[in-house]
Amino acid sequence: MTQRKGIILAGGAGTRLYPVTMGVSKQLLPVYDKPMIYYPLSVLMLAGIREIAVITTPQDRDQFIRALGDGSQWGLSLSFIEQPSPDGLAQAYLLADAFLDGAPSAMVLGDNIFFGHGLPEVLAAADARTSGGTVFGYRVADPERYGVVDCDSQGQVRAIVEKPAHPPSPFAVTGLYFLDGDAPARARAVTPSARGELEITDLLDSYLKDGLLTVEQMGRGFAWLDTGTHASLLDAGNFVRTLSERQGQQVGCPEEIAFAAGWITADQLRARAATVGRNGYGAYLLRLLDG
Ligand code: DAU
Repeated sequence: MTQRKGIILAGGAGTRLYPVTMGVSKQLLPVYDKPMIYYPLSVLMLAGIREIAVITTPQDRDQFIRALGDGSQWGLSLSFIEQPSPDGLAQAYLLADAFLDGAPSAMVLGDNIFFGHGLPEVLAAADARTSGGTVFGYRVADPERYGVVDCDSQGQVRAIVEKPAHPPSPFAVTGLYFLDGDAPARARAVTPSARGELEITDLLDSYLKDGLLTVEQMGRGFAWLDTGTHASLLDAGNFVRTLSERQGQQVGCPEEIAFAAGWITADQLRARAATVGRNGYGAYLLRLLDG
C-alpha cells in the first residue's frame, strides 16, 4: 500500500483576524505556547504521516519556511506549495497533485485544533481505509458556519451541505479529510460554486455519490476548536493552557510525537530543546528525555 501523504492548508488571508494578521500568517499566530499550525501538524503526525506539504499564500511562504524549516527536526519531510489566491479547499488537491503522485492523503486545515482521548485510534481507522474517503462529523451549536452532514431517517448520509441557512443536522464536517489517490482527478471535475470557490463539499459529494465516503462521528469527548475570530483564538489558547498546566503534558507538541514514534533520536530532541531555549516548552522537551 502506498504511504499516505499529508497536506496542511494554510493559505487564505485571515481577514477576520485583522489587524493581527496584517503582515503575519494566521496559522503562525500563537495558540498559547506554540504556533497554531503545530496543532494540525501534530494530527497528521499522530496519523503516522511523515511526508507533508504546506499550502500557503505566495506572500506567506517565507514565514512558514522560517518557522517550520524542512521538518527534519521532527523526522519529517516538509515541502511548501503556493496557492496564488484562496479559490477553495478542493483546489488544494489540484495544487498538490504532483506532490501526492497518486498517494492517498490526509488534509487538515491549518487553523483546526483537535484534542481527545483515542484520537490516534480514530486516525488509524481512517488511514486503514485505502479506497474512498473519511471525514468527521462533530456536533456544534452553530452548524450554519460549516459544511453540514445531511442524513436520511436510517442515518445514511445523503449530502454534505456548505454553510446551509437551515442546517439539516447539528453535525459539522471538521477540517480533516482522508481521501484516496483519486482526489486530484475528482477535484478536476469540481466547478466553482456561486461564491467562486472549488468547494470541498462538492469533492466530498463526488465520493458520496459513488458510495465511497465514510462519515465518522467525533464524539463529545473530543474537542474540535475554531481559531477564526479574536475571541475563539483566545479561547483556544486558554483551553490549551488549562489542559497542559493541569496535566503537565503538552497539547500538540510535534517533538513529543516524533520522539515517541522513534522518528528523532534523544540527541536530536536535546538539540531541539536547546534551539527552543529557556522557557516552558524547552523545559518540557528536556523532561521528555528523562522519560
Ligand atoms: O473548519 C471546517 C470547515 O472549513 C468545514 O466545515 C467547511 O466545509 C469548509 O468549507 C471550511 O469552512 P470555512 O468557512 O472554515 O473555510 P475558510 O474559507 O475559512 O477556510 C478554512 C481555512 O483554509 C482558512 O484558514 C483559510 C484556508 N484556506 C481557505 C480557502 C478557501 C486556504 O488556505 N485556501 C483557500 O482557498
